[in-house]
Amino acid sequence: MGLQVITMKVYRIHEKITKYRFGNPFPTDGVLVKGDPWEKEGMDYFQVEQGTEIRLTYKMDSKDMVWGLGENQRGMNKRGGIYVSYCSDDPRHTPDKKSLYGAHNFMIVDGRERFGLFIDYPGQVAFDVGFSHTDVIEIIIDGTDADIYIIDGEGLREIVRKFFHIIGEGYAPPKWAFGYQQSRWSYPDAKTIEGVAEAFIDHDIPCDAIYLDIDYMEGFKDFTVSEDRFPDFPRFVEKMREKGFRLVPIIDAGVKIEKGYGVYEEGIQGGYFCTDGEGKPFVAAVWPGKVHFPDFLNPEARRWFGLKYKGLIDWGIEGFWNDMNEPAIFYTERGLKKGIELAKQSENENLDMDSFFALKDAFIHMSNHREDYQSMYHHVDGKQVNHHEVHNLYGYYMTRAAAEGFEEIAPNKRFLLFSRASYIGMHRFGGIWTGDNHSWWEHILLNLKMMPSLNMCGFLYAGADTGGFGGDANAQLLIRWTQFSLFTPLFRNHSAIGGRRQEPFSFDQETTEMIRKAIQFRYALIPYIYSEYMKALLHRDMYMLPLAFAYEDEISRRVENQLLVGDGLMIAPIYEENALGRYVWLPEDMLLWKVDDYRERSYEIKRKGHLYLEVGLHEIPVFIRKNKMLIFGNHGRNTEVLDHRELYVVAFIEDRAQYVYYDDDGLTKDYKKEKYTEIRISIERREEDFEIKIENRENRQVKRIHFEMVDIHGNIAKKTVVLAAQ
Ligand code: NOJ
Repeated sequence: MGLQVITMKVYRIHEKITKYRFGNPFPTDGVLVKGDPWEKEGMDYFQVEQGTEIRLTYKMDSKDMVWGLGENQRGMNKRGGIYVSYCSDDPRHTPDKKSLYGAHNFMIVDGRERFGLFIDYPGQVAFDVGFSHTDVIEIIIDGTDADIYIIDGEGLREIVRKFFHIIGEGYAPPKWAFGYQQSRWSYPDAKTIEGVAEAFIDHDIPCDAIYLDIDYMEGFKDFTVSEDRFPDFPRFVEKMREKGFRLVPIIDAGVKIEKGYGVYEEGIQGGYFCTDGEGKPFVAAVWPGKVHFPDFLNPEARRWFGLKYKGLIDWGIEGFWNDMNEPAIFYTERGLKKGIELAKQSENENLDMDSFFALKDAFIHMSNHREDYQSMYHHVDGKQVNHHEVHNLYGYYMTRAAAEGFEEIAPNKRFLLFSRASYIGMHRFGGIWTGDNHSWWEHILLNLKMMPSLNMCGFLYAGADTGGFGGDANAQLLIRWTQFSLFTPLFRNHSAIGGRRQEPFSFDQETTEMIRKAIQFRYALIPYIYSEYMKALLHRDMYMLPLAFAYEDEISRRVENQLLVGDGLMIAPIYEENALGRYVWLPEDMLLWKVDDYRERSYEIKRKGHLYLEVGLHEIPVFIRKNKMLIFGNHGRNTEVLDHRELYVVAFIEDRAQYVYYDDDGLTKDYKKEKYTEIRISIERREEDFEIKIENRENRQVKRIHFEMVDIHGNIAKKTVVLAAQ
């Protein structure tokens, strides 16, 4: 690459955040804070080269670690891999994959120096984190226009919080979205869905939502509902609500090309679709066959599409998942033609190695082809923008379209919304799920590692397909995965067509019993999970963290299979088949509660150090950190019927602990106007006793809290506090 004099403007965004502007970047709206121009020579930390691309290099120390990069393969510590941000529809998440569905260009270098880096560039960015050269980070931005942010800070958490400060407050789903959710591709008709709902009721397993995958639609056409399969859809939605379930339909990015189909006709008339090089709507094929892609980057098209959700909302729908929005392309005429031509030429030929593989590749690589993305255009502010250069914004802007639509349709209502493809900044509009994983044990661990990385990128409302999407789950895998997922904000079991059924009651009775208990535990934990989630959101903090974000010792920094959940918990899930237990690292003394039936409690103090922990298949090990507490309630058949008049606190106290319990109506955005409950609890160890103090703000629900307090020697005291009426 030819070295040049590099011209860039520098902006001070915040005392410790600097933006380096290269060229004239596309406004992604990833970052909300603009900042003041500033004079500075060169870039901090990185060596920069610029030709037809921007190349940044950083020399790592032998012990440097690298965090972040959101939805990606490999460890929480990203060192040793190559990661390519280019939103990709790839249903086989094997360790060699460099791109998944999200493009999350935020990372933290942690070692000799500690700083955060965000590459705000909507096209392809490659991160070689010590793969080609063990001690070098090399980042290649596939263009010359980009904003690069450097965030300084002492602590890892502090750097993330500064980053959250500039990317804005995250999305708050309704409280019911913290309940258990059941999905499958597909429950195709009303009868099947009712059957699933009845099974949950019969088996006494709590559940809040059942999903509608593509087969609910008429011919895979967005915003339609098959009349054959759902004869009276609005009544059906209502009936399901009466039974205690919400329905969550899928919305796909591609709009079917079909004369007379309203969405297609309006899209053509309004000029709302992406175009090809000649200005005609770009044609690709997905589920319905040929489709056009809405130009979500164009504000008018975005508004048009966002308001289309109104039809389903008017029919009682309160949540959606946006899919295939990388956007996924099965084929285009270009790709198909190339394949067919090669196939014709090859007929009656004796194919040598090269021509055989060329033929095979033409079909294997027909989907999601770069050439197709390069032939598609957006229209923004009167300018034509090549899709490839802004590829990573597509899913983000589709989800933004929906959220902006909801804002117009029902301004104060919270909807459930999450997306498959995403980019930094989308967390303000919705959550994400991690796409088509497999019923592989390795994917429980991948799920575990991804969660904190996603959190660092702003995506707190996230989760994986519990039980695995592709392949066949066995009972044990589903049990173990459920026992982990119950801590993730999005807790959904989803599986692919053709695979084995994996609803909680699809196996034997004992399995159903174990999964029931795990799901009941989730519902009991909702006071804690919701409180921790909302506080993280409002205070620009993370909900799931690597141990390194709280403990500085070298072992904690390297732990890749345990997590901190909120303020008080550490979890150590089982992710290996037939395991009777696992090794756990305790950075300090902690209180262990092996949860089976959460109503029967017993605790053990585990001392700082390495521990081999035996864990039965029915057990969920939960560690309460020192001088911390866990608040919970009783389960119910869904979130709406949860009764929080009585709450329970288990505390592990050396000297004192404090906790702020947060709650709100869970349905509206009134929390933004400070309409929420806060109960401040403090416990202090006194001689032979514990002193509890409670400050109560706007609480009308909780009447009593039952405390179980364990001191460092294992002495347990129980007390009940009646809260003053408000
Ligand atoms: C791909 C999604 O990732 C998956 O979750 C869904 O079931 C299928 N599309 C069918 O809609």
